[in-house]
Amino acid sequence: MIYNFDKIVDRHGSGSIKFDGLLPRYGRDDLTPLWVADMDFEVCPEITESLQQRLKHRIYGYACAPDSYWQSIIDWSRNMHGFVFTREELTYMPGVVKGLGFAINYFTREGDKVVIQEPVYHPFRLVPEGNKRQVVNNGLVEDANGKYSMNLDELETIFRIEHPRMMILSNPHNPIGIAWDVEVLKEVAALAKRHGVIVVSDEIHGDLTIFNHEHHPFASVSADAAEVSITFSAPSKTFNIPGIVSSWCVIKNPELRHGFFSWLDANEFDDAPFVSTVVTEAAYKCGSEWLDQAKSYIERNIVAIEEYCAEQLPCIKPVRPEASFLVWLDCRALGLGHDELVDLFVNRAGLALNDGEMFGHGGAGHMRLNVASPRSVLIDAMNKLKLAIEELR
Ligand SMILES: Cc1ncc(COP(=O)(O)O)c(C=O)c1O
Repeated sequence: MIYNFDKIVDRHGSGSIKFDGLLPRYGRDDLTPLWVADMDFEVCPEITESLQQRLKHRIYGYACAPDSYWQSIIDWSRNMHGFVFTREELTYMPGVVKGLGFAINYFTREGDKVVIQEPVYHPFRLVPEGNKRQVVNNGLVEDANGKYSMNLDELETIFRIEHPRMMILSNPHNPIGIAWDVEVLKEVAALAKRHGVIVVSDEIHGDLTIFNHEHHPFASVSADAAEVSITFSAPSKTFNIPGIVSSWCVIKNPELRHGFFSWLDANEFDDAPFVSTVVTEAAYKCGSEWLDQAKSYIERNIVAIEEYCAEQLPCIKPVRPEASFLVWLDCRALGLGHDELVDLFVNRAGLALNDGEMFGHGGAGHMRLNVASPRSVLIDAMNKLKLAIEELR
């Protein structure tokens, strides 16, 4: 089957934050939404059919996750990434960000230090700070060619001097789209083991590696990594089902796992609604062809944006992602301050992107573009941006 990612689906009025949430967020509802990280593509038919089939049974009582649900996660992770874990090492999570909140509350105390790597997905700062933990930033390093890397020397210093209790790793990294190299992850694991730091690895974008890059689940890179890590992942980004909350957590180390899983269980945070289990199973069992096609469509969208910028908007430099559908646009050559840059995109070009500063240090002068939209929408957006820049000058 060939899936049609060119199809424009009107999402207005569907309760979508990306479309119906424009007015409160941007003060206007007439913008082209290229912000929140979900896709404007219809899901693979098997997902919809699985839900329809279940809904035909007209009793929606308390659910119990079937064995086949757990097995679908175990099989998917082993087959896709060689990440092997057992049923007892796995539990349900009502969302990855909620998982971060649970882990911070369970494993750390007020005032404890948590390391993040900005620019990074903003809840990595908001969740610890909202829980009165101290965030320590181990900022990514950008070289002269716009390539980003992890500052392992500084990470070692932070671990040694600041004694953080936890590090939150974006693996792959949002918003830059880095699929971390296995040697870098091994080094992070060795440092964490040496200094007694728990590494929470958020792998929600892990299935979405592109341009021949590979995802390395952190817990699988070494014995140290298995020992120090908590992994959160989900089929939500992969199959465009984030509105159906369905995430999961793996902890290999029994000393970290037992207490945490018991606490989740005692509070019933790990109770999976039937909608989540039905859809997760359908996605993992039937969605791989859809995913392959979606990823190659996304690759072609990224190339289209790169070509557009090179030919018509050389003042904007897209950083090619190694994973996912978010493109980090370097707009620094425009020479605009934060408010002017946002005004250019929102009010002059009519586009809703995430502005780089929301991702913390290193984000100034950047915008994050979501390219999981039909190509015609993206090209139209680039034309609007080009016009707005010309008018500005
Ligand atoms: C790195 C990362 N983690 C977590 C999330 C959100 O996960 P959830 O919706 O399961 O809380 C996102 C969404 O953009 C993300 O980019």
